[in-house]
Amino acid sequence: MPALVLLGAQWGDEGKGKATDLLGGSVDYVVRYQGGNNAGHTVVVGDQKYALHLLPSGILTPECTPVIGNGVVVDPSVLFSELNGLNERGVDTSKLLISGNAHIITPYNVTVDKVTERFLGKRKIGTTGRGIGPTYADKINRVGIRVQDLYDESILTQKVEAALDGKNQLLTKVFNRRAIEVEQIVEELLTYADRLKPYVADTVLVLNQALDDDKVVLFEGGQGTLLDIDHGTYPFVTSSNPTAGGACTGSGVGPTKISRVIGILKAYTTRVGAGPFPTELFDADGDALRRIGGERGVTTGRDRRCGWFDAVIARYATRVNGLTDFFLTKLDVLTGWEEIPVCVAYEIDGKRVEELPYSQTDFHHAKPIYENLPGWSEDITKAKTFADLPKNAQAYVKALEEMSGAPISAIGVGPGRTETIEVNSFI
Ligand code: GDP
Ligand code: IMO
Ligand code: MG
Repeated sequence: MPALVLLGAQWGDEGKGKATDLLGGSVDYVVRYQGGNNAGHTVVVGDQKYALHLLPSGILTPECTPVIGNGVVVDPSVLFSELNGLNERGVDTSKLLISGNAHIITPYNVTVDKVTERFLGKRKIGTTGRGIGPTYADKINRVGIRVQDLYDESILTQKVEAALDGKNQLLTKVFNRRAIEVEQIVEELLTYADRLKPYVADTVLVLNQALDDDKVVLFEGGQGTLLDIDHGTYPFVTSSNPTAGGACTGSGVGPTKISRVIGILKAYTTRVGAGPFPTELFDADGDALRRIGGERGVTTGRDRRCGWFDAVIARYATRVNGLTDFFLTKLDVLTGWEEIPVCVAYEIDGKRVEELPYSQTDFHHAKPIYENLPGWSEDITKAKTFADLPKNAQAYVKALEEMSGAPISAIGVGPGRTETIEVNSFI
């Protein structure tokens, strides 16, 4: 039975939240498999706008069971405030399931994230400051705290001690900060235990049984392919695997169960934080994309860096994720340009390069080679079928599809749930 992965094909903020929400009505489970509250997914339902950070976007569909998988890092205080916010707006969140193996973002992880960035100075990554990197570092260093640890005070205390031993040395001797008390952390973490308890489950078993029972499971990525710790623009990346393989490790569902991998692709490109971005614009076009596209971070409120569509990146995303489909979003934002440049290849040290270079040095030197496609001026936000789009908008979509290497099965023409053209059905 279908297990679908839906992930970002660029540097995040492609419109994953909207895409997940759109499919929410036809799926039984929506699973976050990596990342944490560094994500910011906007979903617009009627005149209501929701900003989700940690919770899967399926939480807005009553029939859907939202799941936070083992690969996610959970800040309990953020989780509760997000749940409270939704409950106040009448959203039932009681079906949520959280893996007992998910790691907890502790207050010291948030401190270390912020202090490290400050120390890096102009070399900083521009993280969201949510403690994501240090929490995954603790996981890999085997000094992480997991959700299940909240239910054994003695083990929790030992683990917090192990985690703080080295960190306190670093905080006091290198970063010139005060040491963090083990007891204070344990006490705070224990205050979350009771409220978390009803949600904690063996999500690996639940999801595999659901698939055996022919249920439809959707994996919703946070961030995007180029922010992947292995396949992204390292070191300017997040500390997890948003790419398709992450859906398996971050949920305990095997790769043979995944039937479709959908890449969410913005009709232009954006990036938040530091790092290379070949098609970035520093002119009036960049400002216009930012203004018309509302390109301001949902999590940190930072302006997003904006640029033209980059087909080299899209081809790369098709390859490293094994994409079966694209969901092209924000086509409406491009309405009004006479010509729309699209990056088809790079020039690196005088040579034309068709594929993303594996070398960081080369990528930093990549200059976009553009092809100009004819634009359109008609309002497309009411388009319901591909045929409703102006001829030039159709040609733009077809050209992107050709260059990117997978069919474009849906097209976003506005932020609302209904402002989508379905070309092929996903389920
Ligand atoms: P995510 O992190 O991938 O879920 O994306 P964000 O929510 O951070 O950013 C995408 C933004 O684009 C949100 O404000 C969405 O409401 C909006 N959006 C999504 N799809 C479309 C679309 O097709 N057209 C327009 N105009 N806005 C869209
Ligand atoms: P969604 O799910 C865009 C970026 C940060 C920074 C880098 C590392 O909404 O697409 P981190 O706090 O993760 O250690 O920061 O990754 N980043 C995102 N950029 N969208 C996101 O999420 C992001 N999550 C992290 O800006 O450059
Ligand atoms: Mg976002």
